[in-house]
Amino acid sequence: MALALDCAGAVGASLTCMYDGVGASCILHRIQNGSSLIIGQLSTTYVSSSAIRTIHLTKTFDNFAALRDVSFEVESGEIFGLLGPNGAGKSTMMMILTTLLKPTSGRAVVSGFDVVGNPGGVRRSIGYVQQDVTIDEYLTGRENLYLQARLSRMPKEKAARRIDEMLHLVEIQERQDEPTLTYSGGMRKRLEIAAGLLHMPDVLFLDEPTVGLDIQTRRKIWEYIKTVNSEYGMTVFLTTHYMEEADNLCDRVGIIDGGKIVGIDTPAAMKESLGGGLVSMEVDCGHLQLVERLSKDESGLISDVRYDPSSERIVTSGDAAAIPRIFQAASDCNITVKRIAVSTPTLDDVFLSHTGHGLRDGDGRDDGQQRRRGGGRPKRRAARGG
Ligand SMILES: Nc1ncnc2c1ncn2[C@@H]1O[C@H](COP(=O)(O)OP(=O)(O)OP(=O)(O)O)[C@@H](O)[C@H]1O
Ligand SMILES: [Mg+2]
Repeated sequence: MALALDCAGAVGASLTCMYDGVGASCILHRIQNGSSLIIGQLSTTYVSSSAIRTIHLTKTFDNFAALRDVSFEVESGEIFGLLGPNGAGKSTMMMILTTLLKPTSGRAVVSGFDVVGNPGGVRRSIGYVQQDVTIDEYLTGRENLYLQARLSRMPKEKAARRIDEMLHLVEIQERQDEPTLTYSGGMRKRLEIAAGLLHMPDVLFLDEPTVGLDIQTRRKIWEYIKTVNSEYGMTVFLTTHYMEEADNLCDRVGIIDGGKIVGIDTPAAMKESLGGGLVSMEVDCGHLQLVERLSKDESGLISDVRYDPSSERIVTSGDAAAIPRIFQAASDCNITVKRIAVSTPTLDDVFLSHTGHGLRDGDGRDDGQQRRRGGGRPKRRAARGG
C-alpha cells in the first residue's frame, strides 16, 4: 500500500481505498480538465495468521436467513469447533467456506483465498469431509482412496505412499481390500477422513465428523483429528452438536444459534464465565414467581437466574452456599423444591446462558422466519482440493 501511495504521488495522482475487513480495493485517479479520471485499480487481501476469516457473512434462502452477519477468525494450527443445534446454520457455513455455496453478502477468506474471488485457490488448500457419507460402497477402502488421489491429480507413487500412511493412521489397513459395503459406520467415517487428508490440506473441514457413532468410535476419531493437528500442524474446522466433542477436542468454540454466532472462546473460558458452579432445581409450581424472587436476592450467592423449559428446571449460578437462600425464598412463596443439585458448568450450560434454550431444542428457525425446505439447495458434493 505504501508503495502504491509513493507511485501515486510520483505521477501526480491520488489513491482512494475502501477496506472491507478482509481486503482493500483502491482506485488511482487524477484530476484532468476538472473531472476525476481513473488511471488504475488495485485490490489487496489482508494478510494475517488466520486460516479462516469471515466478515459480515450472510446467507439467505428466499426470505429465510440461514446465516446472519457472521464474523469470526480461526488461527492457523487451531482446532476450531462450530457448536450449535440442528438447523443452526453449521453446514451452510461449511458449504460457503468450502466454496459449494456462495454467500448472499459479506466475505470469507480461507488460506488467504477469497471463497468467491478465488474458489480454485481455496479448493487446493482444503480437505472437506461432509456430513453425509460419500464413499463408493462398491469400491474397496483402498480403491476409494486411490480414486480420491486421482481426482486430486496426485502422482501415482506419491498416492500409493500417502494411501498407506492414511490407512495406517485411521487403522483400516487390514480391511483395505474389502468393499466398503462391508464396513461399519465408524469405519466408513474413518475412511472419509483419510480421503480428506490425502493431499495434506492446510485446512481440514469436518462437518459433524462423529454424528451417529458410538462413544468409543467417536473418541478414536478425536484421536486422529488431534494427531493430524499436532503432527502435521493442520488447521481443523469442524461442526458439531455434541458439546462433549467441542469440549474435548477444540481449542476454541464458536456457539451458533439461529444463524448467528453468540459466543466464541476456549471451552474452559466459556465455562469459567458462568462462575464456579450451577444450582438447578425442580419445583412443584410457580417457577416464574421463584425466578423473579431469586433474581432479587442480594446476598451475592445467587446470580443469573433463569428457567430452562427443556429440562423444566430453574438454573442459577452459585454453589452449595446458595441452597439455604433458595429454600428460604421457595418457602416464602409457598413453593416446594422437589429436587436440587449443584454442579460445575458444562458447555450445555454455556449454550443455555447465551441462547436461553438448551442445545437439543428446535431446528434453529425463528418463529418469524418462514419455513421453506428443499428447493434450491445444491446437492452436497465432495470437494477435497485440486
Ligand atoms: N437450500 C435451502 N433452502 C431453504 N432453506 C435451507 C436450505 N439449506 C438450508 N436451509 C435452512 O437453513 C437452516 C440451516 O441449515 P443447516 O443445514 O446449515 O443447519 P445445520 O446447523 O447444519 O443443521 P444440522 O445439525 O441438522 O446438520 C435450516 O433451517 C435449513 O432448513
Ligand atoms: Mg449440518
